[in-house]
Amino acid sequence: MAFQHPSDASAATSFGALTTGNGNPIHNNQTSTTAGQTGPILIQDFHLIDKLAHFDRERIPERVVHAKGAGAHGYFEVTHDISHLTCAKFLSAVGKRTPVFTRFSTVGGEQGSADTARDPRGFAVKFYTEEGNWDMVGNNTPVFFIRDPLKFPDFIHTQKRNPQSHLPDADMFWDFLSLVPESIHQVTVLMSDRGIPDGYRHMNGYSGHTLALVSSDGSFRYARWHFKTNQGIKCLHAPEAAKLAGEDPNHATRDLFNAIEKGDHPSWNVYVQIVEQDQVGKLDFDIFDITKVLPHGDFPLIPVGKMTLNRNPENYFAEVEQSAFSPSHMVPGIAPTPDRMLQGRLFSYPDTHRHRLGPNYLQIPINAPKSGVNNHQRDGFMTINGNGGSRPNYEPNSFGGPYQSNKVGATHPVGMAVSGSIGNYDYKLSDVDFRQAGALFNLMDDGQKNRLASNIADGLSGAQVFIQKRQLDIFNRVDKDYGARVEAELRKRNSGI
Ligand code: NDP
Ligand code: HEM
Repeated sequence: MAFQHPSDASAATSFGALTTGNGNPIHNNQTSTTAGQTGPILIQDFHLIDKLAHFDRERIPERVVHAKGAGAHGYFEVTHDISHLTCAKFLSAVGKRTPVFTRFSTVGGEQGSADTARDPRGFAVKFYTEEGNWDMVGNNTPVFFIRDPLKFPDFIHTQKRNPQSHLPDADMFWDFLSLVPESIHQVTVLMSDRGIPDGYRHMNGYSGHTLALVSSDGSFRYARWHFKTNQGIKCLHAPEAAKLAGEDPNHATRDLFNAIEKGDHPSWNVYVQIVEQDQVGKLDFDIFDITKVLPHGDFPLIPVGKMTLNRNPENYFAEVEQSAFSPSHMVPGIAPTPDRMLQGRLFSYPDTHRHRLGPNYLQIPINAPKSGVNNHQRDGFMTINGNGGSRPNYEPNSFGGPYQSNKVGATHPVGMAVSGSIGNYDYKLSDVDFRQAGALFNLMDDGQKNRLASNIADGLSGAQVFIQKRQLDIFNRVDKDYGARVEAELRKRNSGI
């Protein structure tokens, strides 16, 4: 009997007839073209060859970090006037709405890894403003492990797999952290209850870095951004997380998608902490050091707006996988600062996008600014935006091509004073580098402190004894009680300490 394809009965589906990539109608998508009933396939079967060739190229490089993630569309609405702090147009009036696309992620795991890993969570928001896109590429933790970009590739290697065994490696993980004591603040956040959020809706987001907010007269002040969840903080304890990693490794992805699908739209209230220029020299820590927070007591949260996510992507690959966020995508009114890590990131993200997605990654619809692009960049792989048509492709020119705006803002350097001689200046490790980890430890109740110590010992007990000892010295330097609790947990696990 002849093969009965479903479309035979219904004539055509709501999506219309099947075509090749170049638009030719396809008469048969079930059987290749052969020379006779039992003969070989012919090379003239373009549909087969094109289908296989395209399939062979379906995978693109996954993100070198933050490979596993989920995203959603939504909007940001200004709820409080901060136009005295910045000339950013999308922040110019209460009630103003700007479309956003947000991607949440884990950091170390591959694309197929479990959402419930103990790992920071990425919190990246693309604001499609009328002056181009601003990407707030933050994490769910307000601090980071290191404060110089030169250390980032080494740090990430220690969080991934051993080069020989291809296994996660407690020696690598703790060797590096114990040799980089400024990591202790972030280690304490990571090993605390907040180290495993129960899904992406139940966590905060932080810029981490201190950015600048600039007025139209060129005056500026510094700001850190906070996105506080309106769903409440919810976390998973280690045993639940381990169970879910086996039963539902896509726990956070599913939770976000399903909530939005059923109309339960998650939202975050957005705040800034402001540091005026004349305050900077009076502080006993460096506001451009991402291993430190700005204490709320000195720098209160100033409300700005609210972000709501209300639409799931139509296609995961097109919108989530191809999304490309960069701290260097800034708008007039928001500008970079001397934060060393930020400076390193300004380079690293567009560089990785050119590798991962190609030199024209900004033409991909999810990345393209809704306000349009008008420049002299031309050509390159996959140019799909008309390539500037017949307009002039250079400036200055006498034929009416796009011209510079002379406007103060992101591409206009902000007049920050710098001084000194060129050199490789180390941050000098001091007691200040342990104090904020201590403040966090002392925020915790007894149960939280016990779980912190237990979570640390679960991993650290797998490292060699000399590494355990070096890391214990760091906990002790933060607080003797912190060190004692971890040491007791290590002993329970017969770690050799
Ligand atoms: P506050 O008491 O004013 O703020 C404490 C902050 O800690 C709150 O934002 C709270 O978040 C958050 N928090 C509570 N438990 C944890 C945890 N296990 N992991 C991470 N964050 C947690 O104090 P300070 O501003 O003086 O900061 C004290 C310490 O709090 C800091 O050293 C830092 O470790 C931590 N922290 C500070 C932040 C800041 O920007 N100042 C931001 C986040 C943490 P929530 O209000 O959502 O419950
Ligand atoms: C992703 C580099 C520090 C947050 C990435 C990617 C790279 C990278 C190469 C992959 C991007 C892609 O393929 O699209 C670096 C370097 C850092 C650094 C070199 C330090 C010098 C940080 C810090 C934060 C952060 C401090 C948070 C405050 C993120 C987020 C993503 C990401 C959220 C995922 C973005 C997305 O969802 O696509 N980083 N990173 N990174 N990074 Fe970093």
